[in-house]
Amino acid sequence: MNEIFERRSIRRYTDKEISDEDIKKLLKAGMNAPSAHNKKPYDLVVVKNKETLKKLADTCIYSHMLNEANAAILVCSLGDDKETPYWQADCGAVTENILLEATSLGIGSCWIGGYPDLEKTGKEKTILGIPDNYKLFCTISLGYPAEDRKPNNNFYPEKVHYEKF
Ligand SMILES: Cc1cc2nc3c(=O)[nH]c(=O)nc-3n(C[C@H](O)[C@H](O)[C@H](O)COP(=O)(O)O)c2cc1C
Repeated sequence: MNEIFERRSIRRYTDKEISDEDIKKLLKAGMNAPSAHNKKPYDLVVVKNKETLKKLADTCIYSHMLNEANAAILVCSLGDDKETPYWQADCGAVTENILLEATSLGIGSCWIGGYPDLEKTGKEKTILGIPDNYKLFCTISLGYPAEDRKPNNNFYPEKVHYEKF
C-alpha cells in the first residue's frame, strides 16, 4: 500500500474545499478499522465551520494547522476502561485508517493528540458540546496540501527481535 509510505503529517493547506462525498469516504474508512470484540467504542465529530476550526486551533500551540484546515474529524469515546478496555487502541486504528484514506484521496492530514491531555481536550469538548463523560481521543486536521513532504521509508532493524526479545 503506497499510502502507508506516502502519508505524512501535512500542516499547510490550500483553500480548496473537501467535498461531503470525500468526508463520507474518510468516515467510512475509519468505521472499517479493526476493533476489539468489535465494540467500536467511538463517535466522530466532523467540523467544517471555519470559525469553529479557528477556535479549536487556539486550544493548544500544537493545533495551529487548524487555522488553515478545511475540515477536521474528532475521534471521541466514552472511554469506559471496564466495558471497552481497548478503546484507545480502537480509536487509534480508526484514526490511522482515516489518515490513509485521506492520503489516497490526495487530502493532507495531521493527527493532533487529545486524551490524556485533559486541559486541552476539555477546551475542545466545550467548543463542540461533547458530553462531559466522553473523552476526546484526537483531532484530525484535513485540507488539500500546500506543502510537499517526501514519503517515509522507515525501517529500524534495532527495533526488531526474531523469535525472542
Ligand atoms: C498520538 C499522536 C499525537 C500527535 N500530536 C500531534 C500534535 O498535537 N501536533 C502536530 O503537529 N502533530 C502531531 N502528531 C504528528 C507527529 O508529529 C508526526 O506523526 C511525526 O512527527 C512523524 O511525522 P509524519 O507523520 O509526517 O510521518 C501526532 C502524532 C501522533 C501519533
